[in-house]
Amino acid sequence: MIELQRLADGAFAEVEATIDGDAESLLLYRDGDAVRAWLNICPHAGRRLDWAPGQFLKSKDGLLVCAAHGASFELSGGECVAGPCRGESLRAIAVSVRDGAVWLG
Ligand code: FES
Repeated sequence: MIELQRLADGAFAEVEATIDGDAESLLLYRDGDAVRAWLNICPHAGRRLDWAPGQFLKSKDGLLVCAAHGASFELSGGECVAGPCRGESLRAIAVSVRDGAVWLG
């Protein structure tokens, strides 16, 4: 999907991928050598999390902040810890790092 070197440690990226036959926007987050991915859909009102394609907000506390109404998500499990959908979670998508790139599955 994306070369790992294009994703700085602690940075986000947006990629398009086919999930269960549907084209979806995914949010990628790099944490050291690991990369986590979630659907780029906020559980609050179903909006995209980024304010422009690939432009995600991160709070001073290291939370992902939804650009629509400010729900804040921790970046280990994608759980909403503040805001209008507190307690809900982003939908995780399995990805792995192989040969210097990020792949689905
Ligand atoms: S859609 Fe994300 S906080 Fe409302």
